[in-house]
Amino acid sequence: MAESTYYIDEDVGEDIDTRTGDESQPFKSLGFAVLTHGESHKFLARKSVTGEVPEGSDASARLEWKPAAKAALKKAVNYAKAQKKKAEKAQELEAQQAKVLADRTKVLDEAKKITLEEDKSLPAPVRIKLDETDAQKVTLGDGKEKKGTRVRVFGRVHRERRQKENMFITLRDGYGFMQVILQGQLAKTYDALTLTRETSMEILGELREVPEGAHAPNGRELHADYYKIHPGWQAAGGDDAITNRVSKDTEHATLLDLRHLTLRGETASKVLIVRDAVEWAFHVAYKELRFRKVSPPALVQTMVEGGATLFGLPYYNEEAFLTQSSQLYLETCLPSMGDVYCIEKSFRAEKSLTRRHLAEYTHVEAELDFVHFDDLLDHLENLMCRVLEVALEDPTIKQYVQDLNPEFQMPERPFKRMKYSEAIDWLVEHNIENEDGEPHKFGDDIAEAAERRMTDIINRPIFLTHFPTEIKAFYMLKDKEDPRVTESVDCLMPGVGEIVGGSMRIDQHEELMAAFKREGIDPTSYYWYTDQRKYGSSPHGGYGLGLERFLAWLCKQHTVRDTCLYPRYFGRCKP
Ligand code: 4AD
Repeated sequence: MAESTYYIDEDVGEDIDTRTGDESQPFKSLGFAVLTHGESHKFLARKSVTGEVPEGSDASARLEWKPAAKAALKKAVNYAKAQKKKAEKAQELEAQQAKVLADRTKVLDEAKKITLEEDKSLPAPVRIKLDETDAQKVTLGDGKEKKGTRVRVFGRVHRERRQKENMFITLRDGYGFMQVILQGQLAKTYDALTLTRETSMEILGELREVPEGAHAPNGRELHADYYKIHPGWQAAGGDDAITNRVSKDTEHATLLDLRHLTLRGETASKVLIVRDAVEWAFHVAYKELRFRKVSPPALVQTMVEGGATLFGLPYYNEEAFLTQSSQLYLETCLPSMGDVYCIEKSFRAEKSLTRRHLAEYTHVEAELDFVHFDDLLDHLENLMCRVLEVALEDPTIKQYVQDLNPEFQMPERPFKRMKYSEAIDWLVEHNIENEDGEPHKFGDDIAEAAERRMTDIINRPIFLTHFPTEIKAFYMLKDKEDPRVTESVDCLMPGVGEIVGGSMRIDQHEELMAAFKREGIDPTSYYWYTDQRKYGSSPHGGYGLGLERFLAWLCKQHTVRDTCLYPRYFGRCKP
């Protein structure tokens, strides 16, 4: 190739392919000139300066073309080499990718030709849920052949993996998980090759014991002989795949926005399944104790636990609130129904963002007639333990609690009973200060942090009793022996703190009216409540247990936001 001359002007030159590189169209860099035209040429360079020439500098010297320095040329040659290599690599990669794509398209085109047909000569399948092991429905052979019943199952793809020619799918249906194996043609269909997590499937096949040493849910696996992904059952893939929307690294707020998807995860679903069992266990335990269930209104015109946390709403031409507690209504049922309970929503306009406060929570409340304070405490302890017993009788629930809270043990009985005044002494002895940073004193409302520290250190359920009148609700009965305090109880659990609040109720009319006056509450709208003291009063008491807090303790969840379906709290009312 004949030697040419190329010009490089570091100021006004341009590194673009359409330039010739002669004096009228110089390049900007030597590297570009060498890269595009090779090194065996003459290169003339200059640093012309447009605009203002700095004072003292010789403008004309900058306009003179000078042969490129040797070192600069060497650098430019190396640069050109590196650039060429880079370009070659990129080309190679592109070719590889194109081949992969072409191969994949070919495989998928072939796969599209495969259609599965159910073999009607096989035994008719039995429809089962994924956890069903009922011997009548499902048999797993005689141990020798290790084969079993032909079944039909429905579920969603929880996980999938390919191993050589086979596909292993973990199917999920809310009752359990099942390992499914697709072999031969079944693993080669278009549906199998493009299978995404959460896709719904109908699968037919034979249940077999897993080979020795292998593990699968319930020790079995489904050898599919036919499956179908019905129209619309495929789950989104690519960027929209569920694994790209929720993962363990996703921020908590995003997880809450996507709660409908988070619910499909193992932790959330286990917590909610335990919740179902616990709620059912409350019904069982109450029925055993002959409590009757009632359903008080959610729309009310009276408060129970102080005006600060009332949600108000327009109610036709009047004002109404969302109920804070069904207690007062439960009390009105005692004369005709005996002991009563309810499991209803309570609402609190809490402006705090703690891990144990919700704006809407499930409140398990009960009221007991003709009892004394000790009866109330005994009942509460029996009830809580019986609920745990009933819930954990179900082996699935027991397993889920074990998975979520491996250290869980049935609470030691009797529960520790501690008076408020003893707790104050305990806090002082342990140098746990009040919210003003001072040692606790009688009359202080023990704050959440202090209460939890005390409970965590004692590390067992505590019935904290006899709170001062001033820091408790208007309806609480004063202790006859010490009128400074009430016959009240909070049940505290390690890790969470207060999960139950209860008390004996004022049963004398005058005393109740005096309490309304003391608290500055107009008793007029409470006529239906105060009338109870006019028409055959009785010593009675009751309590409210926060279901989400009970579950946070049982399932060892950091926050009550994770123990309800769609949490509502300060700043969140969706989805
Ligand atoms: O102590 P509290 O406010 O008591 C009452 O409402 C009584 N009237 C109940 C009764 O005697 N029938 O609430 C009782 C329990 C608390 O111990 C706590 O577990 C739960 O209800 N709770 C909350 N749970 C979640 N979020 C909130 N904002 C809660 N407020 C109370």
